[in-house]
Amino acid sequence: MSEHKVKRVLIAGATGYLGKYAVRAFKERGYWVRVLTRSKGRLFEPGPFTAPALEAKDIDDIFVGQISKPNTLVGLMDGIDIVYSSVGISRQRDGLTFEQVDYQCNRNLIDLCKNSNVGQFVYVSMQGADNIISLAITQAHERVVSDLRQSSLNYRVVRPCGYFSDMGVLYDMAAKGRSFLIGPGHNKMNPIDGHDLATVCVDTAEGDEVEVEAGGPDIMTQREAAELAFEVVGKPIKITVIPIWLARGLAKLIGLLSTQFGDLANFIITAGEVDGVGPMRGTTTLRNYFESLHEANSKNL
Ligand SMILES: NC(=O)c1ccc[n+]([C@@H]2O[C@H](COP(=O)([O-])OP(=O)(O)OC[C@H]3O[C@@H](n4cnc5c(N)ncnc54)[C@H](OP(=O)(O)O)[C@@H]3O)[C@@H](O)[C@H]2O)c1
Repeated sequence: MSEHKVKRVLIAGATGYLGKYAVRAFKERGYWVRVLTRSKGRLFEPGPFTAPALEAKDIDDIFVGQISKPNTLVGLMDGIDIVYSSVGISRQRDGLTFEQVDYQCNRNLIDLCKNSNVGQFVYVSMQGADNIISLAITQAHERVVSDLRQSSLNYRVVRPCGYFSDMGVLYDMAAKGRSFLIGPGHNKMNPIDGHDLATVCVDTAEGDEVEVEAGGPDIMTQREAAELAFEVVGKPIKITVIPIWLARGLAKLIGLLSTQFGDLANFIITAGEVDGVGPMRGTTTLRNYFESLHEANSKNL
């Protein structure tokens, strides 16, 4: 990319598992990178499940603001050509709902594009949304997609299968000696590595395909993934199945206490029931990933 044509990208969600890889992927492809964050410090700390710590050389500009409060975002889009967002709730404990974060925060970004020179919006939703549209998280993501379709922006939607960061939970349980599965775990999936998926995001920004599904190189069941984790840690397979009816009952109870955690519990239960298989765009295998977690774990012992 020659100097006068360098494109400027804003990365929202830069402290997250996928966002950190996305910052690096855009930077390595020659973009000028601004990140939006509510916590400067977290950018430079490693995230859970191998998300990298960013370095000063990965970022050209840091904008500290609260995406849920547009009045803190004045000037955010100045000079920006492309907006990328993987803002959403995974493990946050803010007491906010998917509607408030996964939808409204991304809607705020779309609105900010209106009076700017932003030409493209790259949004990370989910693979197979139609199969799980009853879930609050899916509805929030798909409202963003629908708003993008109705906007004048040249948008792209990346639709990933499960992330390796979620598979990391299977590794952690195996390392402790027992895994818990919700239901028998016979549903099929091909989760994808964060680094591989970030490359797909940049390719999607640069390509003509408007909506891109992306999975990893191995199709396996939840149970097979759990068993693989035991093999990598070198422990006998011990899996306890929590019946779906029991999990649903607990989710209902949790939902009475907290909408956020009730919705999250329903998402986890449904993800354990429904197949999530997409085109194999990642190359890192789940075995490679578990082995890297195991190596890091062994060093810390
Ligand atoms: N995990 C999967 O299997 C999967 C599959 C398909 C799609 N997705 C979607 O992919 C997206 C990214 O996932 P991820 O694993 O990278 O998530 P993540 O690690 O939790 O990162 C989410 C990002 O959103 C930001 N965020 C969340 N709540 C916020 C709030 N109230 N105010 C400001 N910022 C907030 C986080 O900032 P802080 O660090 O400050 O909290 C972080 O930068 C999500 O929308 C998720 O639904 C996930």
